[in-house]
Amino acid sequence: MTDTRRLAYLDALGVDVYVRRGLELAPEVTRAGQPAPMELAVPAPAFAAPGVEATLDWEPLRAMVSACTRCSLHETRTQAVFGVGNRSAKWMFIGEAPGADEDRQGEPFVGRAGQLLTSMLKAMGFGRDDVYIANVLKCRPPGNRDPKPEEAGQCRGYLERQIDLVAPTLIVAVGRIAAQNLLATDTALARLRGKVHALGTRGWPLVVTYHPAYLLRSPGEKRKAWQDLLFARQVFARLEAGERVLP
Ligand code: URA
Repeated sequence: MTDTRRLAYLDALGVDVYVRRGLELAPEVTRAGQPAPMELAVPAPAFAAPGVEATLDWEPLRAMVSACTRCSLHETRTQAVFGVGNRSAKWMFIGEAPGADEDRQGEPFVGRAGQLLTSMLKAMGFGRDDVYIANVLKCRPPGNRDPKPEEAGQCRGYLERQIDLVAPTLIVAVGRIAAQNLLATDTALARLRGKVHALGTRGWPLVVTYHPAYLLRSPGEKRKAWQDLLFARQVFARLEAGERVLP
């Protein structure tokens, strides 16, 4: 992507000139030409025991999710929202749950927040088809309330299977709810940022960032979100180079 186009996407993100310069030399990414040390987090607790979905390939998995009645959200959904993008992607972005637009269209992150996520991806040099996008919950909670633990628990196997099938190099948890659910923690998002976490028994590397809906409400935080994405790129490069980034 040309610098001009990238800057246009950064504009949409509201990232200011200081951070733009950071594209070439972000202080948190390079220090005197050396990679900055990464703070490592303790591995998250293992995933729950897998159900039948743990053995399914993409299409049976999608069919199972579409027909799912494991929790009461199926009573109020228009449709389940499975996931979208490149099924062999090296990057996976995981949000919280479908909202009204996603419930209507059957695709994650297509509403206003989704458009900002798409701009964030573009600022990183990705189209939506370059990455895989999914949610912790496949069905919309009424009124966009937070997912209940039992709903997330019932849905967990589907997401685990999606992660295993994609086998991404790096997962980005989008927002506090997704991060806390995935990592089974109630630690504040601010304390989860800037670290590499290990997800599940397979230890998928995971980093966190702010939810675009939060960034729409608090545009002053966009700079921090961009720092998270730069950190993610740095972690990704190290993983691809075969470096150990987890304890
Ligand atoms: N917010 C999310 O977390 N996921 C979506 O798909 C849409 C909005």
